[in-house]
Amino acid sequence: MGVNLKRSNYAYKYPFERIASYAAAVASKYADPSLVKALDFGFGGGRHLKVLSDLGYNTYGIDVTEDAIDTAYYNFGENFIPREKLSIDNIMEHPIYPEGYFDVILSVGVLWALGYEQMLAFLDRLIPLMKENGYLIANFRTKFDDLYVSDSNKAHGKEDRKHRMALEGGGGVNDAYVPQFNHIWAFLDINDLKRLMKQYGMTIEMLERYDRYYDNVECISYWCVAARKG
Ligand SMILES: C[S@@+](CC[C@H](N)C(=O)[O-])C[C@H]1O[C@@H](n2cnc3c(N)ncnc32)[C@H](O)[C@@H]1O
Repeated sequence: MGVNLKRSNYAYKYPFERIASYAAAVASKYADPSLVKALDFGFGGGRHLKVLSDLGYNTYGIDVTEDAIDTAYYNFGENFIPREKLSIDNIMEHPIYPEGYFDVILSVGVLWALGYEQMLAFLDRLIPLMKENGYLIANFRTKFDDLYVSDSNKAHGKEDRKHRMALEGGGGVNDAYVPQFNHIWAFLDINDLKRLMKQYGMTIEMLERYDRYYDNVECISYWCVAARKG
């Protein structure tokens, strides 16, 4: 993809609560989380790196944005995770970790944000990095989301306001991150999600739909998932 972004004053300092609770539930399955290698793929400002490290995981991060490590250190203090465990890399270009390296891979706000094909390409990269019985903790965008435009609308060439916003990468609080990529996001219904997880040999263990209303109007709707490999 060759994209390198710069970001300053990253605003998301607090974690996505459902994701944090899944990370805690998964941690409790292990006798000693410090022996559990956990990767935050697309760690951004580091808010879920912080969760993983607070839970005692042996925590790693990858992000393509060139100032992501500095932003995470700005948010959470110098070296809350050793620098050598954080890398600025495009996971599509550099397979920097060997297959089966991680027990847990967390990814929030990344998989769905560049469109369906890219989501599959990310999963093609990420799932082999996980050990058998490892966990994927991730969010996906649901079709209850106000930015989702039905396939029949698209088939008829209709582009309403929501569709345009999604195409332009705008929409609610996320527009700081997406405009660089001229992609529509991936929206999944529950059966799409189940099929997707099955396709990658993953068994869903925890699943919730989480809706929030931006400015009390626009519904942003996520699936939060914890799925085991195998
Ligand atoms: C919407 S932000 C989410 C950040 C963070 N996970 C959070 O929840 O606050 C998406 C992040 O994914 C990163 N990203 C996108 N494509 C990537 C790639 N190919 N390799 C590594 N990081 C990527 C972006 O740089 C960005 O920081």
